[in-house]
Amino acid sequence: MRILLLLSALALFACGEDHGPNMRPGEDCKGCHNNFSLAGTVFPGAQAQASEGLAGVTVTVVDSAQKTLSLTTNSVGNFYSEDALTWPASITLALGTRTANMPSAPSGACASCHTASGQGRVYLP
Ligand code: HEC
Ligand code: HEC
Repeated sequence: MRILLLLSALALFACGEDHGPNMRPGEDCKGCHNNFSLAGTVFPGAQAQASEGLAGVTVTVVDSAQKTLSLTTNSVGNFYSEDALTWPASITLALGTRTANMPSAPSGACASCHTASGQGRVYLP
């Protein structure tokens, strides 16, 4: 048993990946997580580094069925939910007096479009 635990700890270390709420900021979470209705990362700029995600940003979703969902970004800037949503949806980001809005997001796979090299990250100006 102890050897098994040691082996899995080593495997985790070798992969260098921490699977959980703080994983892979800026990447297309829904590409791997079908269970999430929306997921992404909020940054301070369109071309920000993956390590620069903003914590404490309020992400407010109002979907096509007028359902409202409010999330807060975690310490690496990630947010995600499994609550069912009807697309398109209006997405508003807010931190203090800073706000940004996408009036009609077609899906919750934010980083399928918002990448540093493409459309630009999801960010708060
Ligand atoms: C390349 C595939 C991949 C990407 C991209 C990915 N994850 Fe994961 N994630 C996994 C795997 C594998 C696990 C561990 C197995 C599991 O619990 O589903 C995991 C586990 C998790 C968990 C804990 C289990 C759960 O489902 O609640 C959370 C939370 C999570 N990831 C959030 C995210 C977020 C947020 C993003 C995007 C910023 C993201 N992941 C991007 C593969 C990925
Ligand atoms: C199909 C591609 C696509 C998806 C998916 C998408 N966006 Fe967007 N987003 C865009 C485009 C294109 C713009 C700029 C034009 C516009 O507002 O429609 C934009 C604009 C924005 C803006 C405003 C940027 C500014 O300059 O003020 C925010 C904030 C935003 N998106 C957040 C999100 C979030 C959060 C998600 C995931 C829930 C998301 N987007 C999903 C393509 C996408």
